[in-house]
Amino acid sequence: MNLIDALKSRRSIRRYQSRPIPKDLAKSLIDAAQTAPSAGNLSARRYVLVSNEDMRRLLAAAAYGQEHIEEAPLLIAVCADVKASSVRYGSRGGLYAIQDADAATMCLLLAAHDAGLGACWNGAFDDDMVREALHLEDDVLPVAIVSLGWPEESPARPERTRRVGEVSWID
Ligand SMILES: Cc1cc2nc3c(=O)[nH]c(=O)nc-3n(C[C@H](O)[C@H](O)[C@H](O)COP(=O)(O)O)c2cc1C
Repeated sequence: MNLIDALKSRRSIRRYQSRPIPKDLAKSLIDAAQTAPSAGNLSARRYVLVSNEDMRRLLAAAAYGQEHIEEAPLLIAVCADVKASSVRYGSRGGLYAIQDADAATMCLLLAAHDAGLGACWNGAFDDDMVREALHLEDDVLPVAIVSLGWPEESPARPERTRRVGEVSWID
């Protein structure tokens, strides 16, 4: 898929078929996520793949009851490894680790789209509940729960609102 076409045609998909995602395909999505840049090339991010139904239910509850999180056959929690980045970058490391995880999440979404999967970046959740459910250390911050599955909807492209001053050019 042409990259610009992929960027323009990707949508957040929240309705999925129940059939599972093969493990090899899931692993290829992680490989794609890992192509993302990272501060100092430290890859200060982690991935937790969840297909277990009870755990999906728990994560959906942590995400304020968002049903598509429970219904997706696969969830990938992308986490910022704050310690890994802070060792080199001190207090700036927290921000870098979050940016590392964000960049990886975007690559993951595009790879999923390229593979014909539907995916949604879910950021509305209770950090502590997710951390507890996934047994994450205190310095590992869950950044996104990406819900994935074979799409059961094809939503229209949402409008992008433009704000005054959104783009400025110092020439
Ligand atoms: C940081 C972030 C957090 C988001 N959190 C949620 C979420 O918790 N639940 C959800 O359904 N969508 C969530 N989304 C998806 C947005 O709603 C979606 O990207 C936006 O409406 C634009 O639609 P599009 O992705 O189809 O272009 C999130 C997206 C981002 C980037």
